[in-house]
Formats: sequence, C-alpha cells, structure tokens
Amino acid sequence: MKFFIDTANLDQIREAQNLGILDGVTTNPSLMAKEGISGKAAIMQHYKTICEIVDGDISAEVLSTTYDEMIKEGEELAAIHPNIVVKIPMIKDGLKVLKYFSDNGIRTNCTLIFSSGQALLAAKAGANYVSPFLGRLDDVSTDGLNLIEEIRRIYDNYMFETEILAASIRNSMHIINCAKLGADVITSPLAPILSLLNHPLTDKGLEQFIADSKKMI
Ligand code: G3P
Repeated sequence: MKFFIDTANLDQIREAQNLGILDGVTTNPSLMAKEGISGKAAIMQHYKTICEIVDGDISAEVLSTTYDEMIKEGEELAAIHPNIVVKIPMIKDGLKVLKYFSDNGIRTNCTLIFSSGQALLAAKAGANYVSPFLGRLDDVSTDGLNLIEEIRRIYDNYMFETEILAASIRNSMHIINCAKLGADVITSPLAPILSLLNHPLTDKGLEQFIADSKKMI
C-alpha cells in the first residue's frame, strides 16, 4: 500500500518525506488556501517545490469546472513536472476530461468520490486514481469503509487498473482498515501516519531494555 500525505504544508511534507515511507502528496484547493497560496504563479511554484521535495505522484487539483477550462488548466499543471497527477472533480464535464486526459497521456485523480457508481464511471473513463472521501462519509453517519470495500470488489471483478486512493483519512484506524480492505493508497494528514508508530507496550518495553542495558555496561 502506498502512503501519500494530504497537505500543502511544506514542513509537514518534508517531515513525512524524512520518515522514508512517503510515496506521494495530495493537495486540494482548501489545503492550498490554508497555506496562504494565491495567484497562478504562486500556485505553480508551490507544486514545483513539492515535486522537488518528494519523488512520487503529486496531485494538483484544477480550480475550474467546465470542460474547456479544466483541459487548459490540467495541461498547464501537468507541464510543471512529470510526477504531477491532475485532480479532477467527479462531475459530468470532469468525466469527459478524465477520458480526454487518459487518451492523451496525462495522469488523473478523480476526486470527491462518495459512491461506488461514481468510482465505476471514473474507472471507465480511465482515471489513474479515484479518491473516495472516508471521513466526510463518516461525518454524515455513513460508513466510509463500506465504500472502499465496494469499489475494491467492483474494480477486482473487471480488473480495472484505476488505483483506490482512500482520502479524507482522520485517524490511524482508517489507515489500518483501508489496508485490510485492499486500498491501493491512503492519503492522510501527518498526525494519523505518526500515530501508527505508537504503542504503550513499545514504550514500556523500551524503558525496561534501557534500564537493563545499564546493568550490562
Ligand atoms: O484531499 C481530499 C481529502 O483528503 C480531504 O479530507 O479531511 O477535508 O475531509 P478532509
């Protein structure tokens, strides 16, 4: 399973990269705005900087919602670096853009996936990734993990190559359950990734080993 970090914060991206387990980065307009990035030049530069930090797929989302605008914007984003994956919303024009980019060698991540039907359409259109939003489904009392399970079954039935990129991860159990269900990728903020490290018995055991090692020296 691949680990992506879901942030536009350069310090957190560097920290995750330094862990040695990072495979890529996802961003969205909300995450970019949170970092105070505004204006086309600043947006392009920010993606370029992320590509210099992480050698893996970097999702950059279009800001427009019509076919022609998304094509133009997506081509500009894809030209920044070969690792850029253009993030396209799951709307009717977005579906057509996924197909166009699939036919023209630009890699895509179809975002805002909340149903298996949407994931099926995105795969048919040739998306490289689909991003089901687990946490946001949980927020409205719907089990987000069920969606991952359904998409996995559908993609396996027909051997779709589209990768399931589980997004809107809120905690370490989301990551573990996505791994159990066979998600290809999780994209998570830094905190849930770091919390995978923790276990009180590890801390207790290490404390004992350190105490005993002093007896040996
Ligand atoms: O990047 C898309 C997704 O991961 C957003 O997560 O926490 O805003 O629902 P969240």
